Order: sequence, then structure tokens, then C-alpha cells
Amino acid sequence: MNDSLIKNRMEIINCMNGTYHNDIKQDVINGLTASRKFIHSKYFYDACGSHLFEKICCLPEYYITRTELSILRNAAPAIMDHFQEGDIVELGSGANWKIRALLDTVPENKLSNIRYIPVDVSETALKAAAEELLKVYPGLKVLGIVADFTRHMEIIPGGRDKLFVFFGSTIGNYNKDECNTFLKSIAASMTTGDRFLLGIDMLKPKDILERAYNDSSGITSEFNKNILNVLNRELDADFNLDHFNHLAVFNTEKERIEMYLQANRDVSVKISSTGLKVELKKGETIHTEICRKFSKDNIDRMAFNAGLSITNRFSDPEGWFSLIEMALLNTAHH
Ligand code: AVJ
Repeated sequence: MNDSLIKNRMEIINCMNGTYHNDIKQDVINGLTASRKFIHSKYFYDACGSHLFEKICCLPEYYITRTELSILRNAAPAIMDHFQEGDIVELGSGANWKIRALLDTVPENKLSNIRYIPVDVSETALKAAAEELLKVYPGLKVLGIVADFTRHMEIIPGGRDKLFVFFGSTIGNYNKDECNTFLKSIAASMTTGDRFLLGIDMLKPKDILERAYNDSSGITSEFNKNILNVLNRELDADFNLDHFNHLAVFNTEKERIEMYLQANRDVSVKISSTGLKVELKKGETIHTEICRKFSKDNIDRMAFNAGLSITNRFSDPEGWFSLIEMALLNTAHH
């Protein structure tokens, strides 16, 4: 297939227009001057961080990706059965293996009825993934939206039936309030008949969870520390990655993995572009991520609070991961 045939089926809208730099600056100032230091987990994902995350997805200890993908492959025909025509909106699209599981169920002569709308902060990742898809699925159309979907939901065009998908249990990165706000913003973008497919990692024994975030090959550690490289580059900081250790522990009470970077000596860092000097005592931590794990009750409550009704649940035999299909609450029973 030649380039022009692909370009005609792809359109990209960029809504990020230069806000990233101001955001990271302000977020880092807030986080590193707080009494308990933190850096927002969305800053993991520069090109290197995205690549490291893809490596995490293939780790033997990290069961999440392969479990979700196998559930999705089994569930795809049932999910796509109601969805012969319209837009598939993928939030935080990243690589494209999961969307393929859905598109693989669509007969080739029906592909032109489907438009795939990936929404991601990284334009390069989004373009690369989209171009690959266009080669594999003739007739498919792609509208790539470069945006932070926690803020720019309104940019997603209306007018056609929609299947929203949010895979990978990325929702676990949000605290309760952020979760609620996010789910409500999805519900607000949905109309009757639309569906929302949400991937959620379930509560399970602590040792399995901690192993998934402390892999033996050290990739998760590299991924965690890479956030300091992002600050070094974007804010002209001088973090030495060797002065920090990776820490990931399961907080049983809060039902979440907590990830930290822990100073292994007294550390003093200059963040030149902010004028900030940050001091850490040996043993002090910078909190970088929460990965919440959910129970069925918890999921039911979250959906209900957002005005969503669960239309289908798919899981693996061990119940480690769930794919939850939802619709607007008042339109679920026709
Ligand atoms: C991308 C948020 C789903 O929480 O498991 C993997 C990120 N962090 N290993 C997760 C992550 C450390 C991942 N999510």
C-alpha cells in the first residue's frame, strides 16, 4: 500500500500546543516543595519512558498486559457485535496491540464504517501506531488527537456511535476523586447506545502485586528513575539517577501499589529552569505513582457514581483482571 493511500485515511489534530512545558514546571515546583515530595506519574512517558513501559508489558512478573489481552481476544466478538459502525475512541492509546484485537473481528468490507480515534499526549507514538494500523486494516480511517484527555474530552467529535476504550488499568493511577471526575467526563461525552470499555486490575495477594512492580530484570526500576531524566532534560535539573533506589510496595489499607524513588544518600539537586534547589536526606522518598487495585464492589460503586451502568463483565479464569463494558445508566435497559 503506498503512502498516499494511507495519508488520505489519516488526520491528526494537536491540542497540546506548547502547554507541556509550563505544566511540568509548575507541577514539579508544587511536588518537590511539598512536605512529602512527589512527581506526577504522567511525566514517566517521554519517548524513553514509553519504550521502557512497553518492555514492562512483556515481563514475566507483569501479568497485567497479557492477561488483559487474552480477555480482550475472547471478548472482542461480543463487544464488537453491537458495534458495526462508528468511532472507537482509545484514551491513552500508546502501542496498538489491544485495538487490533477489536478490529480483527470486523470483516474487511466493513472496516470503512469504522473510524479509530486514538487520544494520546505523544504525537510521535500516536502517529507511528496509527500508520501501522492503516497498513493492516484497509479502509479503516484514523483521526489522531494529540491531547491530555483528562482535560480535553470535549475535543472528541460527536455525531457517530462511540465505543470508548481505556485499557491497561491506567485508571489505577488516579485517586478516588480523579477517578470520579474522569468517569463523569466520559459519561458526559456518551450518548444513548454508546459503550465504554474499561480495563481494571483486581485486588490479589500482595506478593503477586509486589513482584509485578519489582521485576528481577530491573526494568521497572529503570522506568521509575527515567522520570528524573525527564526533569533533567525538560527543566535543566541535575539529578544523578544512581543516588536513588526504586521502591514499590503494596499498601494493604489503601489497596494500591505505591512507587517511590528513595535517596540512598543525602542529595542536593538544582532544577535550573525553576530556580529551585531541592534537598533530600538519605532515606527520603519522592512519590512517583499509585497503582490502585479494585474489588467488584468498588467497581460497581464507581460506575454508579458516574452515572454508568455495567452491561458486561469479562475476566480471566483467576479473576486477576477485568474488562468492564458500560453504558449510560438511564439507557442501559431498553
Ligand atoms: C500504565 C498505569 C497501567 O500501573 O501497572 C507499570 C504503570 N508502573 N509498572 C501500572 C506501571 C510500573 C502501569 N499503568
